[in-house]
Amino acid sequence: MQLLLEHIRQLVTVRANGARFKTGEAMADLGIVEDASVLIEGKTIAWVGRADEFDRTLDKNATVVNAAEYVALPGFVDAHTHLVFAGSRDDEFALRTAGKSYQAIAEQGGGIMSTVRATRAATKKELKKLASRRLDAMLQHGTTTVEIKSGYGLDPDSEIKMLEAINELADDHFMTVVPTFLGAHVIPPEHKNDPTRYIDLVCERMLPYIAKRQLARFCDVFCEQGYFSVNDSRRILQQARSLGFELKLHAEELTPSGGSELAAELGAVSADHLEHIGEETIPKLREAGVVALLLPGVSFFLNHRYAPARKLIEAGVPVALATDFNPGSCMSFSIPLMMTIACTQMKMTPEEAMTACTLNAAAALKMENRVGSVEAGKEADVILYRIPNYRYLAYHFGMNHVAMVIKGGVILEF
Ligand code: NIG
Ligand code: FE
Repeated sequence: MQLLLEHIRQLVTVRANGARFKTGEAMADLGIVEDASVLIEGKTIAWVGRADEFDRTLDKNATVVNAAEYVALPGFVDAHTHLVFAGSRDDEFALRTAGKSYQAIAEQGGGIMSTVRATRAATKKELKKLASRRLDAMLQHGTTTVEIKSGYGLDPDSEIKMLEAINELADDHFMTVVPTFLGAHVIPPEHKNDPTRYIDLVCERMLPYIAKRQLARFCDVFCEQGYFSVNDSRRILQQARSLGFELKLHAEELTPSGGSELAAELGAVSADHLEHIGEETIPKLREAGVVALLLPGVSFFLNHRYAPARKLIEAGVPVALATDFNPGSCMSFSIPLMMTIACTQMKMTPEEAMTACTLNAAAALKMENRVGSVEAGKEADVILYRIPNYRYLAYHFGMNHVAMVIKGGVILEF
């Protein structure tokens, strides 16, 4: 089965030229080809280049799509979400408009614990149904790979229920799904008086069981004042590493809490959030090759400060962007909206934002060999947009410009 996209008005390849990710000025290099063709064979990209250089003998009766009206991009990689959850927090949204802070709402029993109560009460089937609809909508908005965290269960059975739901979605849904264990999201109320017992439970029962069943590829910790300290986080992540997990951290989201320093120390794959990162830590991230995964939708939605994207880019740290989609701190899974916010609020250029949502986001999942750019040998996740050029994605915000979704070589019909 061959599919030939020909005469693409503008193809943004984000080609990596063999690099794991792009840093510094290279983040602005999108590898654009005007009047391009892309040949897909089965699930894989077979040829990419200028339409007039396409060797017709490669075409073995391909289905041809004339893409002269469209801009083509790699499918977006959303490398940080909490997409599996039950319930809603629209009540908290309303409270925040009246001046209540995210932290104050959490201290009064809302926040993450509100979603934990709803998620514990839901069956696996219900969680999958809710999540599957969200994944459909994300594909329709140009996202083709999604990382999903547990962390709304917080007891062994409920965390396993979430991880099983995530793994079953990975098997059954068209979306490429990457599971992460976030048992250390918050200390559940039943362990409030003895938090160490909960950390023991995570380290001694949950992690070994999840490793044995291979239910998660990454282990993440919410390293934050009032949640998990640097020492707690180190203990959990070292145990995770010894069991074969790759590491991630929620770092410096609400306060400067030392999480990014720990990410560098442990050589985590990504340090996420970084709204409060100290300048002295930035070079350490670069030296350790940690991807700075920024989540501007959270700063926007909670009206908090933004991560220092310019300083990170100028220091040579690979910067990626994701939605953090969750019912509390960012109820949006639109990557183009994140690009708009990154450009207007963090002064990233449209080109940097594009690299940050594709190749660098793939690197934040150690999947840069498979996805994140339109290059021969990569998975055929290509999106066609009805826009004059790629800049319109961030520029003309608040609407969906997707014209066609090609996922694993298949044109999806919605
Ligand atoms: O990334 N920081 C911790 N977790 C999420 C919020 C989850 C929630 O509020 O439900 C975050 O912002
Ligand atoms: Fe998060």
